[in-house]
Amino acid sequence: MFENLEVAPPDAILGLTEAFKNDPNPQKINLSVGVYKDADGTTPILKCVKEAERKLLDEEQSKGYLGIDGLADFGRHARQLLFGEGHEALTSGRAVSVQTPGGTGALRVAADFLKRKFANSRIWCSKPTWVNHPKVFEAADRQVETYDYIDAAGTGLNFEAMADSLQQIPAGDVVLLHGCCHNPTGIDPTPDQWKRIADIVHERRLLPLIDFAYQGFGSGIDADAIGLREVIRPETETLVCSSFSKNFGLYSERVGALTIVASATDAAQAALSHAKIAVRTNYSNPPQHGAAIVARVLADSELRSDWEVELAKMRSRINSMRELFVEKMKEKTTARDFSFIAKQRGMFSFSGLTPVQVDELKSKYSVYIVTAGGRINVAGMTEHNIDRLCDAIASVL
Ligand code: LMR
Repeated sequence: MFENLEVAPPDAILGLTEAFKNDPNPQKINLSVGVYKDADGTTPILKCVKEAERKLLDEEQSKGYLGIDGLADFGRHARQLLFGEGHEALTSGRAVSVQTPGGTGALRVAADFLKRKFANSRIWCSKPTWVNHPKVFEAADRQVETYDYIDAAGTGLNFEAMADSLQQIPAGDVVLLHGCCHNPTGIDPTPDQWKRIADIVHERRLLPLIDFAYQGFGSGIDADAIGLREVIRPETETLVCSSFSKNFGLYSERVGALTIVASATDAAQAALSHAKIAVRTNYSNPPQHGAAIVARVLADSELRSDWEVELAKMRSRINSMRELFVEKMKEKTTARDFSFIAKQRGMFSFSGLTPVQVDELKSKYSVYIVTAGGRINVAGMTEHNIDRLCDAIASVL
């Protein structure tokens, strides 16, 4: 049966990491996949995570299955991070969560949930969006559409065009919003723009699906949740897919959550029952270890404040790399002004490099970036690789 199969194309992001691993050049630079690197170019295990793991190892009594929706403590802490302590969505009990394998797992469970109960709803994504969004949704038979987002220069938000196209989306459809640190552009709406987005979503009776994979990587834990908290108004419904890959550095542990906010408690419980079927028919129930780490860190005031310090360090290193990159590019070329990169937030920016330039960077300089829009992972830049990187970019411009 398999002998006539053609080889599928490599994944647009993870395929580049495979190619990078096979590249023998000792000076190679990987700015493709969204993984944080410290000043030495390594992806560290956070100290608070190591400490929590030590405690868990001592205390753990069983490897029995978790419930279909995962660890209850994890879900509670995940929701608290999203909404902030004392938020009405928490105290009312109208927000429920299922623990998922990473943010991607949350997106797939959300899509399966929509397929089961809202089969005619389409999902509208920003143009551009994470290359895997349409693939995940289409794998769950969802019809994907796009709304306008980026401006003609490719460096900022065209908010009027965005608002206009959101206004055209039919009631009952789903609108995917990036909670912060827009992937792939690094361009986020301002707080005032979020207010307007939330107004449109509610007036048009759209279902917001918020992808929130970078909380704490933009401006801060609460500051990054401004848009999400604007969208979640009393009695309104929302789906939130959150991830702990980046802000806890738990990439390989696959820790995420799908949080469903319903108009009232009964509706939330009904929605949860369907999300649990989506989980059970997909991977049965989630893995324990990563979620236990997150729950442990967030429950322990000392570990939590250590985490906040470590997260702030990652954030400020990324932002200082943005500044350094802009400065270096200014020194090396006048062919393009990259100052917009310092204004963007999160791991990514669209460099505007063309597919031909991206190819040349890879083949001549062993610099790996994502082809679509020339997305660069700023978090992969270091003081050690920045000169080589900027020289290579300047030479292909
Ligand atoms: C990315 O966009 O690089 C990350 O979200 C990781 C991934 O799975 O693609």
